[in-house]
Amino acid sequence: MDVEVHVVDHPLAAARLTAMRDARTDSGQFRAALHELTTLLVYEATRTIAAEHFPVATPVAEARGTRLANPPLLVPVLRAGLGMADAAHALLPEASMGFVGLARDEETHEPRAYMESLPDDLAGRHVIVLDPMLATGGSLVACCRMLADRGATDIDVVCVLAAPDGVETLRQSGLVPRLTTASIDEGLNEAAFIVPGLGDAGDRQFGAY
Ligand code: PRP
Repeated sequence: MDVEVHVVDHPLAAARLTAMRDARTDSGQFRAALHELTTLLVYEATRTIAAEHFPVATPVAEARGTRLANPPLLVPVLRAGLGMADAAHALLPEASMGFVGLARDEETHEPRAYMESLPDDLAGRHVIVLDPMLATGGSLVACCRMLADRGATDIDVVCVLAAPDGVETLRQSGLVPRLTTASIDEGLNEAAFIVPGLGDAGDRQFGAY
């Protein structure tokens, strides 16, 4: 399965991303920019979400109403994805939320799972995974494998920044039909950080430890 990549090209998204990239942006400002950018990214990612129609009575006449046909499951990848959860849930109040905790080993860059709180059966569910950073792709593939093991096939990944390596890893996994991001950056450095990137999205939101 090929992954359909959607790079959101909008001045408002670019301005929020610029604030996040700027090393002088403090933690509170960073979290605010991530929240606002997530709203824009999820809005774009859900443009083709399945909808159904029903009649609605206005005070004047009957009109055509619209609602989501299959409210999604949102899955923020902890820690950094936590900063996207509230904004996504505000746009999709009908959604449920699951949680996956992954920490990347600083030496090997391999993800280590420390939390998995997901519904047992995801067959037929639309899942939207939230993680600001797609670097090597190891973490998002590990997350999507957890989802696929529960039967999920309809998976959207929403991230702030992607490296070409990460996009390729997602593509090779065959697990993710759609990726929405604000930018595909140049590449990775020797520490597997996205370049130019924005640093460590978890540390910038919550502190380094
Ligand atoms: C970062 C980031 C992604 C992952 C990306 O998380 O938030 O989850 O690394 O790297 P990858 O594509 O090479 O796997 P990290 O493991 O630093 O944990 P944190 O969110 O707790 O800071």
